[in-house]
Amino acid sequence: MNTKLTTNEGQTWADNNHSQTAGERGPILMQDYQLLEKLAHFNRERIPERVVHAKGAGAKGTFKLTRDMSRYTKADLFHGEGKQTPILIRFSQVAGEAGYPDTLRDVRGFALRFYTQEGNYDIVGNNTPVFFVNDPLKFPDFIHSQKRDPVTHLRTQDMQWDFWSRSPESVHQVTYLMGDRGNPASYRTMNGYGSHTFKWVNEHGEQFWVKYHFVSKQGVKNMTNEQAAKTASTDTDFLIHDLYDAIERRDYPSWTVDVQILPYEEGLNYKYDIFDVTKTISKKDYPRIEIGEFTLNQNPANYFDEVEESAFSPANFVPGIEPSPDKLLQGRLFGYKDAERYRLGANYEKLPINRPINEVHNYERDGFMSQGQDGSVNYEPNSLHGPVEDNSARMHPDQLKGKTVYSKPYETDHYSQAGDLYRLMSADQKDRLIETINNTLGTVESEQVKILQTRQFYKADRDYGERVAKALGLPLDDIRE
Ligand code: HEM
Repeated sequence: MNTKLTTNEGQTWADNNHSQTAGERGPILMQDYQLLEKLAHFNRERIPERVVHAKGAGAKGTFKLTRDMSRYTKADLFHGEGKQTPILIRFSQVAGEAGYPDTLRDVRGFALRFYTQEGNYDIVGNNTPVFFVNDPLKFPDFIHSQKRDPVTHLRTQDMQWDFWSRSPESVHQVTYLMGDRGNPASYRTMNGYGSHTFKWVNEHGEQFWVKYHFVSKQGVKNMTNEQAAKTASTDTDFLIHDLYDAIERRDYPSWTVDVQILPYEEGLNYKYDIFDVTKTISKKDYPRIEIGEFTLNQNPANYFDEVEESAFSPANFVPGIEPSPDKLLQGRLFGYKDAERYRLGANYEKLPINRPINEVHNYERDGFMSQGQDGSVNYEPNSLHGPVEDNSARMHPDQLKGKTVYSKPYETDHYSQAGDLYRLMSADQKDRLIETINNTLGTVESEQVKILQTRQFYKADRDYGERVAKALGLPLDDIRE
């Protein structure tokens, strides 16, 4: 037997198809409270979408540790071979809105949450190991250049290439984006990266620098430009479909979790600045160590509740894992929680999908949509045995020195690693890269933007620059400066 229809207040709902009128053909009555409530609730169904990464797909699963890392970090989730931790993942596009086709070329988000015994730990990364800019002041401008033109409301190649051509630190990531990884065949077949360098601290207070790599066990597979364009026109939600369907048919995708670990002092003196998120750390210098794997085996029971309302943040650490001074990461520590308070409200952390599995005790209270509060003491100090601090969770003290400066720590060598990436590509991959750059940069109106950008490719690798120049019809003398 069907359940009975009720209002949100639990009252029986008599008629869900015919509103009350004054007489058979008269106007609708104000007393038809059920109609008014239904229209009012409908008007409030949409919430602000994420300012970036608006479109995405989510799933749940389990992380299994296969190698004890207690030598390097006191974080409980990395202690004890075989330990299992529930996870939430959200894959996403960066630039387009929630309704935008998800197979159009873009970097893809790779946000991972571990629901640990010590609270939520989030790694909010991408499917590329580096980023376009390395100072948070440049992030809003960069994103504006990816979004819509303020006059035409169209997305344009002109804006993004204008920004990149004047931001040489972006050339490494632009090479990834214009290469094959800009069109993943599915979320299941892409790798993920924590991108930044993070700090691990062990029980003895020893510090290490760490990079995360999530390697797809399905293998990395990408689409051609033609496949991506065709898919975008036949199924705008192709990547969401693909992940959901795979999990429904129990073809559970999984990834290994690898880390690169650098001793503290060595990391500070590495040949590239390890806090510059436009650079990678060579596998030859610091090999990847496999420490575990995670598998996704559960689709969201409700997309809005478990994916749209999920709120990841690079500031969600657990004891034993800390931020590095990477300037972009430091900016992100503020950005996400602020965005989520705006997007979901002051009590977003109390939503079921964002609640940690351990108990929460503090002196924060009330606010819009607060729920589940008891009568426990709401101030400190108190004589009522309220929750107390745990000194073992203090961040490791760092020695700081220097004057306050508008610092430019990473303004050196933007090109070598972009060149290395180009030289690593096969002949076919290079052909596709040049074709994609030609299809996009080639449509830009400004000759100056084309020249500035091609000079960057040339500085990364002569062959790279010369091939782009040839494709765009630019005189070689212009790009050699
Ligand atoms: C989402 C800001 C750089 C990956 C977001 C959101 C904001 C933001 C405000 C939306 C959060 C929400 O509403 O829940 C920033 C700022 C950055 C930055 C200010 C630089 C200063 C990066 C970098 C990466 C990244 C370097 C990857 C390495 C992501 C991902 C999401 C996201 C994956 C989607 C999270 C989800 O699935 O909910 N970013 N971002 N962002 N960002 Fe960033």
